[in-house]
Amino acid sequence: IYELDSVKMKINDNFEKLPESYLFSTVARKLRDFREAHPGVELIRMDIGDVTLPIPDAAIQAMHKAVDDMATKSGFHGYGPEQGYDFLRDAIAQGDYAGMGITADEIFISDGAKSDLGNLGDIYSEDSVVAVTDPGYPVYVDSNVIDGRGGELVDGKWSRFVYLDCNEQNGFKPTPPEAHADVIFLCSPANPTGVAFTRDELKAWVDFARRNNAVIIYDSAYCAYVTDPATARSIYEVPGAREVAIEVRSFSKTAGFTGLRCGYTVVPADVCGTDARGSKVPLRKLWLRRQTTKFNGASYVIQRGAEALYTPEGKAQVRTNVSYYLHNAEIIRLAMQEAGFKVYGGVDSPYIWVKSPKAEDSWELFEQLLAQAHISCTPGVGFGSLGQGWIRFTGFNTTENTIEAMRRVTEVMR
Ligand code: MLT
Repeated sequence: IYELDSVKMKINDNFEKLPESYLFSTVARKLRDFREAHPGVELIRMDIGDVTLPIPDAAIQAMHKAVDDMATKSGFHGYGPEQGYDFLRDAIAQGDYAGMGITADEIFISDGAKSDLGNLGDIYSEDSVVAVTDPGYPVYVDSNVIDGRGGELVDGKWSRFVYLDCNEQNGFKPTPPEAHADVIFLCSPANPTGVAFTRDELKAWVDFARRNNAVIIYDSAYCAYVTDPATARSIYEVPGAREVAIEVRSFSKTAGFTGLRCGYTVVPADVCGTDARGSKVPLRKLWLRRQTTKFNGASYVIQRGAEALYTPEGKAQVRTNVSYYLHNAEIIRLAMQEAGFKVYGGVDSPYIWVKSPKAEDSWELFEQLLAQAHISCTPGVGFGSLGQGWIRFTGFNTTENTIEAMRRVTEVMR
């Protein structure tokens, strides 16, 4: 005899440690509520980094053709390789990593960078010490908390993480910590601050990882926005990175694939971890096992679209779109600077990180801008406790909306 209550499945308690909802879901809910309460008000979205331009024509043509393939016996594709089709892996190896020693079989196609950044936690141990930037893209923190690596949340910090503080003193560029870390999440150009590492700065991280037997998970989703020649687009531009770095990229911000879903992760054959017996194990083997077990591959049609981005026309169209968003970012950066705010980013990045001289609290400023200017932003504190008092604007809206948003924002924030 047993009581029903005693046999209930036990949940993963780590979920209860997290804030109730994911940052961008909270923002979206607040905007929904605002719209319902203020019908007819023209709200300008300057929060989530979602693109506004249509997909480049080269990709559209390729996807049309791929759909037609699916309608024929000879061109039909069922399950594809979980790690992606060779045609796309080859195009990426040649197009993004020429001269860097990365081969197609080290590239794993996925449904986007966000999934990979969260899923990579499957291949390192639960007791790994994880280093994260504060502020940083919330997926690094939240997914590691879900996996049990966070410890307890005390005054906005998780007890088991090593925090890489980003602040005005270091120009929001963290340097390697004193403390040991097994897994280090870095993002450059950074979300949310928009600052990017030079090759020399990145070398310090690669050297640190090599000295500490650590692995860097390098999020370079925004690499297409790099304009400064001294700034690295890939961590593999740094000698020695092949042995210590995994790189995660996305077609979302370069080619507008936020709704199509496609990205990739590079796991070089030389990156290894240690198993319980103390033997070296290549992480590529584990990631392949993970993906073949839990993922059935990105769709054939979408991968054909991504492949077309590496043709001369595709590359030119991507450059045009990126320039458009960078121009928006410049409009924001200049408007905020002229209005006397502290501003970071917006040069090698679509994001602009702004501090208002008046507001101490990011969410208060968010509410104020929403109520008075009908503009949304992302509250900086949502990216970590050191983001308190800051907000992030995105350059991904249209230029017309960006200009209008800056007009309204400067009026309210003055
Ligand atoms: C952001 O706004 O930070 C990003 O769009 C979120 C994402 O890419 O998942």
